[in-house]
Amino acid sequence: MSTPEQVTIEIEGNQYEFPVVTGSEDEKAIDISKLRSSTGYVTLDPAFVNTASCTSDITFLDGEKGILHYRGYPIEELAAKASFIETSYLLIYGELPTSDQLTTFTDKITASSSIPEQLKSLFDTYPASAHPMANLSSMICTLSAFYPEASATDLSAEQIDASIAQLISQVTTLTAYSYKKSLGQTLVDPDQKLDYCANFLKMMFGLAGENFEIDQDIVEALNLLLILHADHEQNCSTSAVRLVGSSRTNLFAAISSGALALWGPLHGGANQAVLEMLETINEAGGDYNQFLAKAKDPDDSFRLMGFGHRVYKNFDPRAKIIKVACDKILAKLGVENPLLAIAKGLEEAALQDEYFVSRKLYPNVDFYSGIIYHALGIPTDMFTVMFAVGRMPGWIAQWKEMLDQGSKIGRPRQIYTGAVPRSYESIELR
Ligand code: SDX
Repeated sequence: MSTPEQVTIEIEGNQYEFPVVTGSEDEKAIDISKLRSSTGYVTLDPAFVNTASCTSDITFLDGEKGILHYRGYPIEELAAKASFIETSYLLIYGELPTSDQLTTFTDKITASSSIPEQLKSLFDTYPASAHPMANLSSMICTLSAFYPEASATDLSAEQIDASIAQLISQVTTLTAYSYKKSLGQTLVDPDQKLDYCANFLKMMFGLAGENFEIDQDIVEALNLLLILHADHEQNCSTSAVRLVGSSRTNLFAAISSGALALWGPLHGGANQAVLEMLETINEAGGDYNQFLAKAKDPDDSFRLMGFGHRVYKNFDPRAKIIKVACDKILAKLGVENPLLAIAKGLEEAALQDEYFVSRKLYPNVDFYSGIIYHALGIPTDMFTVMFAVGRMPGWIAQWKEMLDQGSKIGRPRQIYTGAVPRSYESIELR
């Protein structure tokens, strides 16, 4: 059936025509940008379940078919063949880099991995009890204090490119420093002789002044996880970055808002919640059926963490890749983790349970990722930080696209349902 050029809506006996927008993957939208000016009506769509906030060339996902493409490349191919830095370049600049472009991009990232001494000293006074996502989002925003030139609103392409490389680089340094501080260990500075993932692991797990042996299996596992988390179109945190960025605040502030949104347990905080759920099941003897019952109980607020998705009503392709990688990596590392067996049993039981089947609830990216992070030695409360490191190029790409599109400042409407006009009457004070 051909796609109509426009649709007609009848309101109070009048007919109004609105254009139809068809995407490159044949998605369709009614362009209602002139709805209010021509009809006086607005649309109401809490949580934007049916609303496209923008057009975008970056990531395509088909929730019904479980498809995820970055700039047209299937996630399965990038996960199997690309590096995270190549994938970051692809998301941000639209094409896979040539050899020279990759070298230049990599060199910029390597060269900007150190953070200012005064920023390092903030880690000394930051509360050790703080959640690592509080630390990370604060430190990302604080970068704007040290690089005021990056906060200008009329940045040149070169200045934007420099800030992009700097942010992709320094997010690993900030993460590692926060982790080291939580252990009471001396900070390990970036090693510019190492590639992105190896350097990140050394800053996290190396000891100052001591040799650090790079385990290539762990480097490859981290590279895979970062690629799988790199972008996911207009999810909650990316929408926060685009909306906050639309006020033309600086890149660091917009990205910091994305980190804050990601922190929530319904979003990026789910990977931490999944592992805590699996550990609770394990401590309760491993009987996951009682937890399935809780998740199905309408009177119980418990949800099966790592299951369900706003868009995927089929397997999250990232979960499939991570599940396979889980087995491989744990075997390579010689890690016996009872939580993996519980996760697999829980998944199998849920996928056969009418409650989950009828609601099309499948494992999402967070269901297995925590088990690999755990095997890599990442502490549970740092899982969401690892998600943020992976999502950094996606947030940046979406922020850059919003600017390149000349986006107006985001300002949704509302339908007021409060008190109608009434007069103020002073109370008689006793
Ligand atoms: C991420 O958007 C993205 O792209 C995000 C992300 C990305 O890469 O950026 O993919 C990353 O955030 C993945 C999601 C991580 N969150 C979790 O794993 C938390 C557990 N999942 C749920 O909270 C839930 O599935 C959400 C938040 C992910 C999606 O919520 P929706 O779309 O608002 O789902 P819904 O509330 O409309 O659910 C429909 C039904 C409801 O039951 P009924 O009212 O029909 O009886 O399904 C039920 C829900 O109660 N349901 C669940 C469930 N998820 C939905 N019931 C039990 N356990 C669950 N996990």
